[in-house]
Amino acid sequence: MKFSLLISICALVITCKTYAQPKLSLVPIPESVSIQKGKFVFSSNTRILFQDNDADLKNALALLCTKLKSAAGIDLTSPLKSKKRSTIQISLDNTISNDEGYILKIKKNEITLTAKTPTGIFYGVQTILQLLPVEIEAQTLQNRTEWSVPCVDITDAPRFSYRGVMLDVARHYQPISFIKKLIDLLAMQKMNRLHIHLTDSQGWRFESKKYPKLTQIGAYRKGTPLNTTYDYNSRPQDTLYGGYYTQEELKDIVRYAANKFITIIPEIEMPAHSKSALASYPEFACLDSTGHAFSYPQNIQDEYCTKDSTFTFLTDILEEVMNIFPSKYIHIAGDEASKVNWKTCKICQQRMKDEGLKNGEELQSYFIKRIEKFVNSKGRNIIGWDEILQGGLAPNATVMSWTGIEGGIKAAKEHHKVIMTPGNYCYLDHYQSNASGEPAAFGGFTPLEEAYSYNPIPVELTEEESKFIIGVQGNLWTENFNTPALCEYMIFPRAIALAETGWSKNELKNFDNFVLRAANHLKRLDLHNVNYSRHLFDLRLNTSLNSEGHVTASIKGVPKEYEIHYTLDDTPPTITTPTYHNLIVIDKNATLTAAVLINGAIVDQLKKTFILHKAVGKPVILKTLPSQYYNKGGNNAWTNGSFGGDNSFNDDEWLGWCGQNFEGTINFEKPTTISSLRTRFFHRPPSWIWTAKKVTLETSDDGINFKSLLEKEVNVPTVYGANPFEATWAPVTTKYLRITVEPWGNIPKENPGEGTPAWLFVDEMVIE
Ligand code: ACM
Ligand code: ZN
Repeated sequence: MKFSLLISICALVITCKTYAQPKLSLVPIPESVSIQKGKFVFSSNTRILFQDNDADLKNALALLCTKLKSAAGIDLTSPLKSKKRSTIQISLDNTISNDEGYILKIKKNEITLTAKTPTGIFYGVQTILQLLPVEIEAQTLQNRTEWSVPCVDITDAPRFSYRGVMLDVARHYQPISFIKKLIDLLAMQKMNRLHIHLTDSQGWRFESKKYPKLTQIGAYRKGTPLNTTYDYNSRPQDTLYGGYYTQEELKDIVRYAANKFITIIPEIEMPAHSKSALASYPEFACLDSTGHAFSYPQNIQDEYCTKDSTFTFLTDILEEVMNIFPSKYIHIAGDEASKVNWKTCKICQQRMKDEGLKNGEELQSYFIKRIEKFVNSKGRNIIGWDEILQGGLAPNATVMSWTGIEGGIKAAKEHHKVIMTPGNYCYLDHYQSNASGEPAAFGGFTPLEEAYSYNPIPVELTEEESKFIIGVQGNLWTENFNTPALCEYMIFPRAIALAETGWSKNELKNFDNFVLRAANHLKRLDLHNVNYSRHLFDLRLNTSLNSEGHVTASIKGVPKEYEIHYTLDDTPPTITTPTYHNLIVIDKNATLTAAVLINGAIVDQLKKTFILHKAVGKPVILKTLPSQYYNKGGNNAWTNGSFGGDNSFNDDEWLGWCGQNFEGTINFEKPTTISSLRTRFFHRPPSWIWTAKKVTLETSDDGINFKSLLEKEVNVPTVYGANPFEATWAPVTTKYLRITVEPWGNIPKENPGEGTPAWLFVDEMVIE
C-alpha cells in the first residue's frame, strides 16, 4: 500500500514539468542577483525617501508611486502616521560607473536603491515592479492581501547604451495612443530608444510649418488595401488613406517618452523613399513627380534631385525636426536609393562633374555628407542605414547595419559608431511562426529563439573596435500592419528578447531560462492588453508516412522538458488533454492542435488538419524533383495528408520548382474510383512565386499508357498566399493518375524578377 503510494508520488513528480522555474522572472536578466531569505512587505507604513528637489529623480520614482497607489492602494508619499515604518531609501551615488546602472538591496524592513543618475533609479524601479506580484501592472485597485518583494541584492547595468525599437508610421499611420503604449512597454524592458520612421514614399507624417503641402498632399495616398491580405483587386482606388502628426503632438510624444527615459529618434528619409515629398513639391525631383504618395508596392525612382534647392528644403525640414526632437541623433536614412534618375538628370550629371564624383554612389555620399555638415552645425549627429557607406562614409555618421552585419563591421573598423539591426535577427516584420492563421507578414522567418540568439558584437571585431557597437534595435516596418494590435503581435515577445540582448551580458543569456521568465513576464503584458504573439518556441509539426502508409505527426522545435498537450478534434489543448511523447499516429481525418503549456497557460500553439484521402501513403513518382531548397517535407509531401501554411511557403509541406512542370504520378495499387482533385498553389509575386497556369490529369491502368481525363486553367488570385484549385469530374476507376502542372512561365514586366521563370509551389494533392 505504502509502496504503491510512493510510486504514484514519483510518477506525479515525473509527469510534472521538469524544467527549473527561475526564482525571479526578471527580464532583462540583471548582471548579478543574490537572493536572500525573507521578503519586504509594502504596507500603509511604507515610505519612500529621496531628495525631492531633484525633478528627474521624482520623475524616475513616479511609476513606483503611482502603480502602488492605483493597484495596491498604498501611498508611499503621504505624511507618516506611524513610527513603525518601513522605508525605500533612494540615493544618487557618483561612484557607480554606468550612467544607467543601479544597485538594489531589499531587506525585510528597508529597500535601498542607489544609482549614478535618475535614469539608473528608473531602471531600479522597473526591477522592483517586476519583483512585485504581476497585478501591480493592473490599472485598477486589486484585491490582494499582500504586496511584497523577495529580499535580494541586485547589481545591474546595461551592456549597450542604445536599446531600441523602430516603428514605421509612414506605411501605416499609427495612433498616438499606441505610440505612448509602446513607450510604456519598451520602458518595462529597460529599452531606451524609440526610432520613429516618419516619412517614406507612401506617406509623410511630420507637420512642417514651412512646407505645408507635405502634409496636405504627401500625407495621403490612394489604393491602400484596407485589409492586410493584399487584395489588390478590391483596393479602393479613390479612397485617400493617411494622416500626420502635428508638431504639438510630436512634442507631447517626446515629453511622454522622456518621462519614461526614452529618447525618440526621428527619421526623415533621403535621398530616396521620398515620393510623398516629391508629390508635394515636384520641383525637388529630377523628373516630373506630380501626383500622390505611392501606394504599394512601389518605392522605385523616388530620389530627390541633387539640385541646391533640394538641400535648402531638406535642411529647412531638418531644422524644424531638430526643434521638436532634442535627440542627439537624427536619422537621415540613406537606404535603398536606386539612383536611376540621377543618371539621366542634367543637373545631377553636372553636379557629379563639378564635384568630381565618379558614380551614383559617390553622388549619394556627397548628398549625405552635405546633410551631415548641416546637422553637425546644429550640434547633432546623423544616423544612416548601412548604404551610407557607399561612396564613402560621412565623417561623423553612426551606421545602422540592416542588410547584414558587414556594414556594421566596416563602419566599426573605420571607428564609426554602429547600431546593429540585421534583418535575420532584428526585423520584426518577419514571420515568427509557420502556424497557419498567422497574420500576413513581410516575409522572412525570425522565430523568438533566433531573435534571442543574436550577439551584436561580430567576431570579426577586435575588442577596441567592438566598443563602436553601441547597441541593438528591432525594426517594425508596417507595410502589412495597419492596426496597433497587429503591430503588437509582431513586436512582442521578440522585443523582449532584443531588450535582453541589449541589456544583459552575453554570458548570462540562456534561451531556456529566458523563455520561462518571458512566459511569466507576459502576464504583465496581459494587464496592459498587449496582443503579443503566443509563439515562444519554433513549434513545428512534421508529418510523415510510416512503413504501413499511415500518417504520423511529430513535434519539433521545443526542448523535451516542456509539456506539450494535444487534441485531435480542433479544441484547445489543456493540461488534461493527452501529453505528446514522440509520435502521433493519425488514422482518420483530424485537426491536430498541439500546445506548449507553462504553468497551465498556452505559450505556443499550432494546428494542422489531416485529410486521409485516396492518394495518401500510395507510391508516387515525380518526374522532376523539387528544388533542394524547397523540399523540406520530402518528395511525397504532396500526398502525405496535410497542407502547407497559408502565408509561408518555406515550410515542411510546400514543394517548390523553378521554371519546371510539376509532373507526379500516383499508383493507387488497385482500381480506385476518383472524382476530384483539390490542391493549392502559392502566389507571392514579390518573392518571384506565381500561381500555376494549367493542370492536366491523365489516367492509366498500367502506368505506361495514359489517357486524358481533364485539363483546367488555374484562376489568377487576387490575394497573396495559398491559391486554392479544385477540379471535379464524373467518377472514373483507375489504377494510376498522372498530374501535370504547368507553371506561370516568365515573370511579367514591372514585377520583381521580371523576365525570369517564376517559381511554382505545390501543396497537398487531395484526391477523392
Ligand atoms: C530598410 O529596411 N530599408 C532600412
Ligand atoms: Zn537631378
